[in-house]
Amino acid sequence: MKFLITAGPTREPIDPVRYISNRSSGKMGYAIAQAALDAGHEVVLISGPVTLPAPPRAQMIRVTTADEMYDAVHANIAGIDIAVLCAAVADFKPAAFASRKIKKREGIPVIELVPTRDILASLGALKAKNFLLAGFAAETDDLEKNAREKLEKKQCDVVIANDVSAPGLGFESDENVITIFLPDQSSQVLPRATKRGLANDLVKILCALQ
Ligand code: PMT
Repeated sequence: MKFLITAGPTREPIDPVRYISNRSSGKMGYAIAQAALDAGHEVVLISGPVTLPAPPRAQMIRVTTADEMYDAVHANIAGIDIAVLCAAVADFKPAAFASRKIKKREGIPVIELVPTRDILASLGALKAKNFLLAGFAAETDDLEKNAREKLEKKQCDVVIANDVSAPGLGFESDENVITIFLPDQSSQVLPRATKRGLANDLVKILCALQ
């Protein structure tokens, strides 16, 4: 099978020295990429800025902004069997980029934000969608309600939810707990384990659904 996986954060520049971003080390997405490669699958890994090395044998595409990630995903979706969108894409970006550093002496700036394009929803809305679409949901409360809303709204086949408020789990850590939600109302909890261990199980589950 051929996987397309997004990982890491995006950065939305305010001026040449500042940006808006989300928390994400890339560990969860890179673990899924490595697990898929180890299981003998092909992987296109589209990553925001992280410090992790590229998994050997992955087709690596590095991006910075949500717009670049959107374009890279759409340019590479043909021929994909399973898309797993694990990136923490910024939901908002500055309406305008200041080409020169905004000076502190000019006072606190008011930065107008506009929404970024939703990559997951754009794949869900594709008319000729012949791949399994798995989104992530990073939640701090009402995990099941919010994950099911994303499943329906973004027209995914699978939503993988993680609680990012629990210490030592979710963002940046080596471990996670995930719950897999499916449109038939069923769900499956994969209990606390290393991201790599969870990724191995997740890859098997996604391949069985495809
Ligand atoms: O990278 P780590 O430090 O290992 O942390 C892993 C993680 C917590 C970042 C990861 O497991 C995770 O939950 N990723 C999704 C984070 C997120 O942005 O969740 P969300 O609930 O805001 O978004 C829902 C889904 O829509 C995600 O699949 C996201 O990639 C996608 N999305 C969101 C906004 C946008 N503009 N485009 C998108 O495609």
